[in-house]
Amino acid sequence: MTAKQLYETLKNIKLGGNVCQYSLRKCEELVPLINKINDLKDEKNAVILAHSYVSPEVIYGVGDFVGDSYKLSKDAMNTPAKIIVFAAVRFMGETAQILNPNKKVLIPGRLDGCTLADSINAQQVRDLRKQFPDYTFVCYVNTTAEVKAECDVCVTSSNIYRVIENIPNKKIYFLPDKFMGENLRNEMKHRGLDKEIKYYSGVCYVHEEYDVEQIQKVRLEYPNAKIVSHPECNSDVVKNSDFVGSTEQMLAYMRDEKSKEFLMLTECGLSSRLQVEFPEKKLVGSCTMCRYMKSNTLEDILRVLKNPLPQDYVNISEETRLKALKCLEAMFHYAQISSGN
Ligand code: 13P
Ligand code: SF4
Repeated sequence: MTAKQLYETLKNIKLGGNVCQYSLRKCEELVPLINKINDLKDEKNAVILAHSYVSPEVIYGVGDFVGDSYKLSKDAMNTPAKIIVFAAVRFMGETAQILNPNKKVLIPGRLDGCTLADSINAQQVRDLRKQFPDYTFVCYVNTTAEVKAECDVCVTSSNIYRVIENIPNKKIYFLPDKFMGENLRNEMKHRGLDKEIKYYSGVCYVHEEYDVEQIQKVRLEYPNAKIVSHPECNSDVVKNSDFVGSTEQMLAYMRDEKSKEFLMLTECGLSSRLQVEFPEKKLVGSCTMCRYMKSNTLEDILRVLKNPLPQDYVNISEETRLKALKCLEAMFHYAQISSGN
């Protein structure tokens, strides 16, 4: 890859401040690192999975698979590569490891966990299960392997409604995100489904930032703009949005929607991808960055590929892995019942 090619790809990115803005000079500095990583990937039979929220130079410079957590978990299963470098957050890498015990999963991100995943631990789930013994415990994919191991079914933002609809038990305890839990309860009611939804109190600090006032301001200034939000936003934001979905679903909505203006209520990385992939569409308003996702730098990707330290690998005990695998397999099972994919 040349600096000119990288610059041509990234030059339209305007949102996200300096971190996500590219001059030809910055691209000249990045390209030697990118080329070293790409050479090493071939040499070591490794692939890089990059969540849409990581920095654009990772996605467009070295990423082999890009997408939301559900898509990446499937990509991790389908790749024949022996080494997976998971540029996202540790628990997404753990999911790849749970599904692929024979592959090595490396985590370049410097920050473990995130505000949402850190809000609950395995002991707290065990205590809740004692309190609500007749509930099916459903966890969001943004949880540690230990938490997944204590739950019955996992969901991601792209399949949460479909999975919950298909769970036979009407009593559901959802964790850890309280906004997703509230949105889930509202959506089940809206679909006319008789579900009793309880939920935990965690929040994502990125999506917690958004409120209805921002939407109202944008609607006044850009009356034709479509408002697109992630289900980790609060229920007022969700109710006032034109579309709600996972990062991959938000991208597909923008691609297919005729409107030219959009307010994207999610992390800046997705806004960057949209500016690269749909330069003819305009993003209005601002976005928020996730420090955990943005801690995946090219330098660290190169380091973990070249000289991985023991702590760079995902390391889960076999007992926890097998229990968490059951929880993920239940997700694939319930997600497939109505979608057929
Ligand atoms: P997706 O499931 O849409 O990839 O979102 C993951 C995430 O971390 C959202 O904050
Ligand atoms: Fe966690 Fe929120 Fe960052 Fe997603 S955006 S990784 S939920 S802090």
